[in-house]
Amino acid sequence: MIIAGNWKMFEGPDPGPLAERLEAFDEIDAIVCPPYTELAACVDAGLTTFAQNVHWEREGAYTGEISAPMLVALGVHGALVGHSERRQYFGETDSAVARRAHAALAAGLGVIACVGETLEERDSGDARMVISLQVAAIREETGAPDRLVLAYEPVWAIGTGRTATPELAQEMHAFIKSLLDRPVLYGGSVKPENAAELLVQPDVDGALVGGASLEIDSFVAICEAAARSRS
Ligand code: PGA
Repeated sequence: MIIAGNWKMFEGPDPGPLAERLEAFDEIDAIVCPPYTELAACVDAGLTTFAQNVHWEREGAYTGEISAPMLVALGVHGALVGHSERRQYFGETDSAVARRAHAALAAGLGVIACVGETLEERDSGDARMVISLQVAAIREETGAPDRLVLAYEPVWAIGTGRTATPELAQEMHAFIKSLLDRPVLYGGSVKPENAAELLVQPDVDGALVGGASLEIDSFVAICEAAARSRS
């Protein structure tokens, strides 16, 4: 069971105290995804640390980007790719996301690759088609390597307080696994109050947590729910 905290462009919790609290969870793989400026501090604190994005080239004239070998040199363990905020605000295409995933995996990093439909896509009945295309791009570029994890994040549930029902999450996770047989995390307004009912679903293999990862207590409470869900 993986619980990953995506701090986005926020100041997250102090890495040292967070690492101490997370030591209690042997059976949970807890991951933090801080802004780039906090990566080294998180690595130094002993946290499993993922960047929020990674470029597909090893080096080059790509102002503002960071490559996979640069993350490896910093001791970082992996990277998110394809977060819906990257897709929505920065124009990331399925193919760019897949190339980023491939480069990170090739450099030895772990990857959490995010997929998910918008509200319009769900309402028009296109959710499965959109997700099929997103997953197919990742599968074609990377295969299904061990270090690849997927995250299902319905865009309408991110930062909105509106969570997918546990039944819908389960249905979509099973569908995603039928396309690519890797663990699938659920993301979108996961909180201590709703974590247990989501994480108990058989095909929900963990959570990608945004807002509720910014406070140590709420992130730890979600890890506790994860530990209980498989006990
Ligand atoms: P949220 O964000 O938990 O604040 O909805 C999740 C995410 O964007 O990864």
